[in-house]
Parts: sequence; structure tokens; C-alpha cells
Amino acid sequence: MRIAVVGTGYVGLVAGACLPDTGFDVYCVDIDENKIERLRRAEIPIYEPGLEELVRRGVESGSLQFTTDIKQAVENSEVIFIAVGTPPDEDGSADLKHVLDVATSIGDYMKGEKVVITKSTVPVGTAARVRAAIEERTKHKVHVCSNPEFLKEGAAVDDFMKPDRIVVGVDSEFAKKVLSDIYEPFVRTGNPIIFMDVASAEITKYAANAMLATRISFMNMIASLCTAVGANVDMVRKGIGTDSRIGPSFLFAGCGYGGSCFPKDVQALVQTLNSYDIDAGILEATERVNRNQKQQMLEHVFERYGRDLSGRTFAVWGLSFKPETDDMREAPSLVVVRGLVEAGARVRVHDPEALQAARMYFGNKVEYQENNYDALKGADALIILTEWKPYRRPDFDRIRKALVRPLIIDGRNLFNPEKMRELGFEYISVGRPSIDELVPA
Ligand SMILES: NC(=O)c1ccc[n+]([C@@H]2O[C@H](COP(=O)([O-])OP(=O)(O)OC[C@H]3O[C@@H](n4cnc5c(N)ncnc54)[C@H](O)[C@@H]3O)[C@@H](O)[C@H]2O)c1
Repeated sequence: MRIAVVGTGYVGLVAGACLPDTGFDVYCVDIDENKIERLRRAEIPIYEPGLEELVRRGVESGSLQFTTDIKQAVENSEVIFIAVGTPPDEDGSADLKHVLDVATSIGDYMKGEKVVITKSTVPVGTAARVRAAIEERTKHKVHVCSNPEFLKEGAAVDDFMKPDRIVVGVDSEFAKKVLSDIYEPFVRTGNPIIFMDVASAEITKYAANAMLATRISFMNMIASLCTAVGANVDMVRKGIGTDSRIGPSFLFAGCGYGGSCFPKDVQALVQTLNSYDIDAGILEATERVNRNQKQQMLEHVFERYGRDLSGRTFAVWGLSFKPETDDMREAPSLVVVRGLVEAGARVRVHDPEALQAARMYFGNKVEYQENNYDALKGADALIILTEWKPYRRPDFDRIRKALVRPLIIDGRNLFNPEKMRELGFEYISVGRPSIDELVPA
């Protein structure tokens, strides 16, 4: 079976690289010529563990081809995945322009029956619009399915190869059979392929992301209460996470969620709910708590140094929105670093993978450090925003000696507050007893 995957971002490239491993021939299509040129040489534009190896293998064996020619890909494939971006529109709803552009091309170029599958995250009702756009242009039969992607950046290849579950909304028995053939090799350990109607599949993706984002904001709200009364959110997390009805995942307090999915998907679901006159209050609160949580990191700095930070220097460890990725979209670092710069501070940043991406956001407004300890020299505080492994067991002696004031503001609760007190640090974390009286400002 030949498959076309249109859009070679995180989702399309991972799907395109993994599918040949189970015997399919895949065309990966993108409108970005530069990206396609690089991919043909097996140069990966993103950092994603295991992906480069898969792409190289696919390219060398000839089972993975990269092209900008959507006509050729549509003509030669029985199955077409749409995996282009769905960025937020001005009002926060998902912009379907790219998805519908692809649908139009499919309609223009298909010369026989096709199975078209939306993998992009799209609001309920989109499959019907995709079908209409295709059927306007062709007499051939088309099956339009929804197969939302649940991969996690940083573990995307693993997630695609060994998914917890695969959700597929189908409109025909034929499409169900085709999707079973494609996905059965990936669920041999018994994880389910859950078939359903198309609208339910479209909603499932938003419901999953909105639920996860809400858990994070919920815990951040509880963390604020812990801070206010001197309680410890880690203990509360353990206390509730052991309840089998709640479970332990996604209960860590922190400096807020970011990335390319949670912020935009929560916003888009709010817009969808509004369009049906359904109260979206839960999700509006989720967003509000998240915005405040990012800002809170800055407030800790302002409380200690005032709002004019001229003459001050800050070291920031961690720029990507989470570890094992170089993706900085909507990352807490954007709010914190920009806030520090706007207040007049000098900022030195480090990240194991995202320094190149960071240059696009911060230009020459900050100093980029290849070594995390170099960022500390003469700084008034260390601010940690991503829980990268190299930050988890640092050389505390080196940190204390390099900083002007031994102040660590930890947005990821990496260290034990008691131990930090013993080591002589003024240590601010999220929702745990604050130990900030030790060194006067
Ligand atoms: N990134 C994730 O972790 C993730 C996870 C699950 C779902 N999703 C969803 O998957 C979709 C894609 O996300 P992404 O992060 O891969 O996006 P991305 O922005 O990284 O990549 C999208 C790609 O599509 C290409 N493109 C745009 N219009 C095109 C067209 N007409 N023809 C061919 N190519 C075109 C772009 O050039 C780009 O390379 C989004 O809807 C997103 O919400 C993303």
C-alpha cells in the first residue's frame, strides 16, 4: 500500500518516518522546499530522539520519499494523511486554511478511490468540510476519516511505534479495514484501536488535551494555596495521585504548560463550545491559571529586586516548553525572559537543545551560553524553567560560587527545599514551603 503524508512537521514527519518500518511506501509532502531538500539528505529540522535514524533508513531503502509535488503523491497513493498545521486564528479558533488547501489539491488530482485521513487536530465538523472540498472537484469515491495524533514531543517516535491507543473515526467499513491494516502492526501488544464515528474522534483529541491542561492548572491552583498556607504540594500530589480514580500522571505543579498543542487546543475548544452556546468556564479558568503561573516566576524576581531590573543579571536554565525537545512555542521561558529583558535586566540563557530556536525569539537581546554554568557568572539569581536531566543533579558548590546572591527560582521543583537550605541557598519553588529568609536582599 502506498501512503502520502501531507505536512512534514512534528506529526507528519514522525508518521511518515515510522510507517515504512512496517512495509509501506510513503511519500512525505510539504510546501516548504528548503525543508524537503534537507529531508532528502536525511537532515532533520527538529530535535526528536530516534527520528533521524528512521528517516535515514527510509530514504536509503527508497521506501520514504520527500517531495513538494502533491499531485504526484496523490496520484500514486491509495491513502492520504493530512498532517499540516492548524494554528490559532485571531479569535483562538483553529485556522483550517492549510487543511482545506490540501483537501482541494486532493480533489483536483485524485484519479481513483482514496481514503483521506485528517491527522491534524481539527474542530468537530472539519471532516465534513474536507469531504465537501474534495467532492466539489471529483467524481471519484472518497472516504474521509479522523485519526487524531496523541504523540508527545520528545517521545514522538516511541509513542507512534507503541501507542497507548489509536483513535480512528471512520465513515465506512472499507475505511475501517484500511486503517486496521495500517495500524495493526503498531498494536501487537494488545493496545486498542478504538473505532468510532468521525465527530467523536475529532472531539476526543480536544477533550484529551483540554483534560490534561486542566489537570496541570488545577494542580497549580492547589500549589498557590499550599504556598499561601505553608503546605507542600508534593505531599498533596502523592495524597491524591494514589487514589485510583485520580491516578498519578499530570499532577506536577510547575511554571505553566506550553508547547504547540495545549495552549492552542484549549483556546480552540473554548471557541467551539462558545459557538454552540455551551459554558466554557472550566477551560477559561485553565487558561487564566496558566497565564498567571508563567507570570508568577517573574513576580518572584520583582518581589526581591523591584520592577526596574537595570544593572541586574539573571541566568535562565531551560527554554524549551519541556525536556527532550527544542520546541519553544508558548514556553514559559518566552514570558519570563521577555519580562526580564523588558524590565532592563541582562539575561544569560542555556538550554541543551533549544539555543538555536531561542535565537528566533530573542535575537540579540539575551546572551546564549553553550555551558549552563557559564550562564551563572555574576548573576543575581538562577531561574530554572525546564526539567532537563542535566539540571537535576547540578554542582551546587559551583552554582553558589558563581552567583552574586545564592537565589534559585525553580519553576519545576527539581530540588529538595530542606537540602537547599542546608546548602545555603535561598530557594523558591512552586507550592512548597518557601525558604527565602536566609539571605537578606
Ligand atoms: N506537535 C505535536 O506534538 C502534535 C501532537 C498531536 C497533534 N498535533 C497536531 O498536528 C498538526 C500538525 O502539527 P505539527 O506540530 O506537526 O505542525 P508543524 O507546524 O510542525 O508542521 C506543519 C507542516 O505542514 C506544512 N504545510 C502547511 N501547509 C501545507 C500544504 N498546503 N501542503 C503541504 N504542507 C503544508 C508546513 O510547511 C509544515 O512543515 C496540528 O494540527 C497539531 O495541532 C501536533
